Amino acid sequence: MPRRTLTLLHASDLQAGTPYQPHAAEALVRLFEHTRPDAVVVSGDLTQRAKPREFATAHRLLQHFAPTPVVVTPGNHDVPLYRLWERVFVPYRAWRGFSTSDPLDSVVRIEGATFVSLNTSAPRRAIVNGRLRSGQLLFAERAFADAPTTDWRIVVAHHHFVPVPSGDGGSPLPDAATAVRRFREMGVDVVLGGHVHQLHLNSSRDVPGIGDEGRAFPILATGTATSRRGRGPERARNSVCLHHFTDTALRVVPYVREADGVDFEVQEPVDFTLEPGTRDLDAPSGAPV
Ligand SMILES: [Fe+2]
Repeated sequence: MPRRTLTLLHASDLQAGTPYQPHAAEALVRLFEHTRPDAVVVSGDLTQRAKPREFATAHRLLQHFAPTPVVVTPGNHDVPLYRLWERVFVPYRAWRGFSTSDPLDSVVRIEGATFVSLNTSAPRRAIVNGRLRSGQLLFAERAFADAPTTDWRIVVAHHHFVPVPSGDGGSPLPDAATAVRRFREMGVDVVLGGHVHQLHLNSSRDVPGIGDEGRAFPILATGTATSRRGRGPERARNSVCLHHFTDTALRVVPYVREADGVDFEVQEPVDFTLEPGTRDLDAPSGAPV
């Protein structure tokens, strides 16, 4: 059975607050209206300093996408950095004010796709870097076990799994290889994230310790959608991606907005082949993988 054709708008690192660029946000809304994706993914760092007014700014932007489903996950900037008491005891207080019904790890289902968002921020263990705990991998495993076999299986996690050559964004998630192996077993098709503030399109084979082991799947980070904190080749630029899923392929179409630009400009697409792994796509819905 062929899988559903699906288009996602993938944005990240809104950084609402001092670095936020309202003109970039307006350009993002125009791109959304022009492309009309099936869902929008915002992979963390919605704010710069986890302040309620910054979450309010991010919320206003996301409201432009309604009623299209929006999948979100927190990033390291969505917990307080300098408000130490809050960071230690109630790090997600402002996040919960923004997203009252969302648990920190969450599942969103739309026709033909299951998204599992995993919160990689770690306010008590890391300042910039993130963490994925074994319980979160179990959470993902259970969510995908309940998903129809023909669903695209998409993990959303803020931090990067593959080092950026320049070192931007710091070290990747510790023990990323363990997560990649588990995702492979779950039949995950793609991992979407951000954090490094530049397009960073990889395969799971690029994760240290994985190499040519097992089935490969794309791990895709997009830059900062609406802030002036772009890094590396995207210094002062903004980027987002459109992901077009067809039965066995993923076409990633990057869009970049120049520092003095108006709209996001389309870039050369990058194609990935997607394998369903061990899943039997003709099995009844909800059958175990
Ligand atoms: Fe980040």
